[in-house]
Amino acid sequence: MPLPGSVAFPATCEAAPEGAPALAGGDAATRGRGVIESLTRPGLREIPSTWLYDELGSVLFEAITLLPEYGLTRADERVIERAAPEIARLMGPSPLVVELGSGSGKKTAAILAASLELGPVDYTPIDVSASALEACREKLAEMPGLRVFPTEGSYLGGLARALAHRATGQPVLVLFLGSTIGNFSRRELPPFLRRIRGMLRERDRFLVGADLVKAAATLQRAYDDPAGVTAAFNKNLLAHLNAAFDGNFDLARFAHEAVYNEDERRIEMYLRSEERQTVHLQALDLHLTLERGERIRTELSHKFHSGELDALAHAAGFLPEREWIDAEWPFAECLWRAE
Ligand SMILES: C[S@@+](CC[C@H](N)C(=O)[O-])C[C@H]1O[C@@H](n2cnc3c(N)ncnc32)[C@H](O)[C@@H]1O
Repeated sequence: MPLPGSVAFPATCEAAPEGAPALAGGDAATRGRGVIESLTRPGLREIPSTWLYDELGSVLFEAITLLPEYGLTRADERVIERAAPEIARLMGPSPLVVELGSGSGKKTAAILAASLELGPVDYTPIDVSASALEACREKLAEMPGLRVFPTEGSYLGGLARALAHRATGQPVLVLFLGSTIGNFSRRELPPFLRRIRGMLRERDRFLVGADLVKAAATLQRAYDDPAGVTAAFNKNLLAHLNAAFDGNFDLARFAHEAVYNEDERRIEMYLRSEERQTVHLQALDLHLTLERGERIRTELSHKFHSGELDALAHAAGFLPEREWIDAEWPFAECLWRAE
């Protein structure tokens, strides 16, 4: 594949959580095209955040969730614990629970347990990371009455496959936890939510976890911890690319950077080139020259206001039905009903 001079950057790739599954799991040409397009984007080099998740990336993400500075996961857990009985009651017996980007699924156990009180439950975790899915299956498969159908793939592709197996009249609950919704750009998010809605039936539900706006210093620490776990997670993306495309990114020549952009209400994660260097991704025939200080953006994590989430729900064709907020670490769990 030749090195492109200037490549139009596809709209879906700004944060590309949905473009990326093709990158992470699709055919080699599509994966390669996505990486070339994003890395050579004029004015903003970028690698879709899905590339953060390979086997090591998933383990490092789990480690992040244990960091004292990363209050997000514990807030999500606390709210889910509190909300699970009511969610189970609203869903009724024997639902199909589909989780987008399940990771290890450790928070999901509370929802499944509450639902299992009412009868058997089908659970389809979807993730691009095969190792995360395996961890999820191991953790949850022992729950009596639970049938687990791990699905490796993208959010929407995986959801389509999961819904094809829904039994007649079976209620569906889709989970999108951990504020992964924040990884979409504000432009990409509404169409993504509409596509989810388009795949659901009336009275199906969508449970969305969203991190709320908080002090910049708190957020900054959460994404740039003193132990350097988030830095390792971020840099591992380059190792993932090296493995996928026979590349020679030297992780030691990059620094982790996390910046809170107050105007956009989001953490932006970058890898900053510590010196002028040329990197070669052999399988893509891509030579990339980075200047000292030049940055590659690797993730966006948007922070929300609660009213904004209601507006997103309505715009996508959902009715906001319930909202639970954690008092300690502002975080919202929103239950939306398909209208
Ligand atoms: C921020 S983590 C959240 C994990 C878990 N849901 C939680 O709340 O702790 C995002 C998860 O989504 C997965 N993921 C990332 N991009 C994806 C995509 N495009 N399609 C499916 N899964 C994806 C990652 O492998 C990872 O497990």
